[in-house]
Parts: sequence; C-alpha cells; structure tokens
Amino acid sequence: MSDAAVWHDVECGSYAADLPLWRELAKRAGGPVLELGAGTGRVALDLAAHGHGVTAVERDRELLDELARRAQARGLEVERVADDARNLTLSTRFALVVAPMQFLQIVGGPAGRSAVIGAAAASLAVGDHFAAALVEVDESVAPDDAAPPVPDVGEHDGWVYSSLPLDVRPEPGGVAVERLRQRVSPAGRLEEERHTQLLDSLTVDQLEYEAAERGLRAVERREVPATADHVGSMVVVCRR
Ligand SMILES: C[S@@+](CC[C@H](N)C(=O)[O-])C[C@H]1O[C@@H](n2cnc3c(N)ncnc32)[C@H](O)[C@@H]1O
Repeated sequence: MSDAAVWHDVECGSYAADLPLWRELAKRAGGPVLELGAGTGRVALDLAAHGHGVTAVERDRELLDELARRAQARGLEVERVADDARNLTLSTRFALVVAPMQFLQIVGGPAGRSAVIGAAAASLAVGDHFAAALVEVDESVAPDDAAPPVPDVGEHDGWVYSSLPLDVRPEPGGVAVERLRQRVSPAGRLEEERHTQLLDSLTVDQLEYEAAERGLRAVERREVPATADHVGSMVVVCRR
C-alpha cells in the first residue's frame, strides 16, 4: 500500500458516523451512485457492499488503486474514474451524487466548488439528488479549555503511523489544519513531518446558494453528530 493510502486511512479511515446517512440516501435514490473524491473507498465500498452500483471519482491514482484492490478483495464492483472532479464529464447519469467529508471545502474555493457542483448537476437527471457534507470551520476551532487531541494511529508492514492534530488556524478564505505525521520503522527509526490541509470556509446557506446557481435546489439539511474523535458536519441535499 502506498504511503498516501496509509496516511489517508489513518486520518479518515475510521470515520463511520456519516455512513448510515449515505446508505439511506442511496437506498432512497434507488439507482447508481457517484462519489466525488472517494479516497480509498470508505464510502464507495460501503455502499457497494449494501448492493448499490457505485462509481468512484478520485484524482489521486494511488488512492484509487488501493480502492480497486480492496473492492477486488471483498468481491465488490466499483467503477473507478481517475480524474479531477472539477473537470468531470461523464456520459452516464446517476440517481445520486455524493461528496462526503468536506470534499467541497478542498477543491479550490468558490470557483472550484462551482465547477464541481456543475459537474454533479450534469451527472444527474431532473429530480435526482446531490448531497454534500460540510463542516462550518469557524465552529470547529477547539475552545482554549478543550482536552488535548489524541493522535490517529495505524500500522502497516511493521511501521507504526501516528497523525496528531496540532493546530487549526484561520487563513484567508478558511482555516489551515496542521498535523504532526510521525512513523516508526520496524527497526525503531522515527520519521516525522508536518502536514497542512487547507479547508475553505463554507456555510450551509452559502452552499445552498451556490447549488441553486448551478440548477440544484436544496431540499434537506441533515446533521451528522460529532463523535469523540470527529467534529460534527452538515449534509446538504439538493434536487436537480
Ligand atoms: C477527505 S478525503 C475523503 C475520502 C472519502 N470520500 C471518504 O469520505 O472517506 C477527500 C478526497 O478527495 C480527493 N480529492 C481532492 N480534490 C479532488 C479533486 N479536485 N478531484 C477528485 N478528487 C479530489 C483527495 O485525494 C481525497 O482522497
């Protein structure tokens, strides 16, 4: 497994609080599902395991290869598209397009979001749905008296991986989430680096407005509650 896939799993792989909602929406849609920014397949594989036809779009080929390996190991079918979701032009139509885990907050601000939402709308027939999760980032900054964070950890090939959230600081247009990534080799050698992920500010109101500009009407707001390890999020469901 590539390093990118291991870090992806360590930092995102254990999150499960949103899965019941994606399953519910997929069941209601009753047709093929397109996931944008699918990573190693946390959501795509879960939906496929629940009997849904799934297509996964991911621009990082190493993550998509890992998704393919996992699908094969579990005997699941997931169509894969190695592409940037902002440039997506698929001839297939989907009953549901999903963008889990703040995907719309890492695609390059309003212009990137507009391109992604436009691509999602173009992949839906009239009456079908697009659903996107977001975290209202200003609310996610921990108060000063919050308990210190614990690292996300994992193990692969004898290496131990740890990713510790260090800081969430305001940046123009959003926040920067900084993590200390450490890994220890089987021989006990420590390697470490800082990793920063920029998360664009986005509110539910703003997303609904931007979706309307691309022909998608907001029909539902759903909350995914916070867990001990993850902040809560909102899922905006829009109808074409
Ligand atoms: C936070 S991860 C979420 C992965 C998966 N959806 C999940 O919920 O576990 C976001 C994923 O989006 C991918 N990504 C980021 N920008 C992208 C883009 N413009 N087009 C396609 N994929 C992108 C990243 O490589 C990463 O795998």
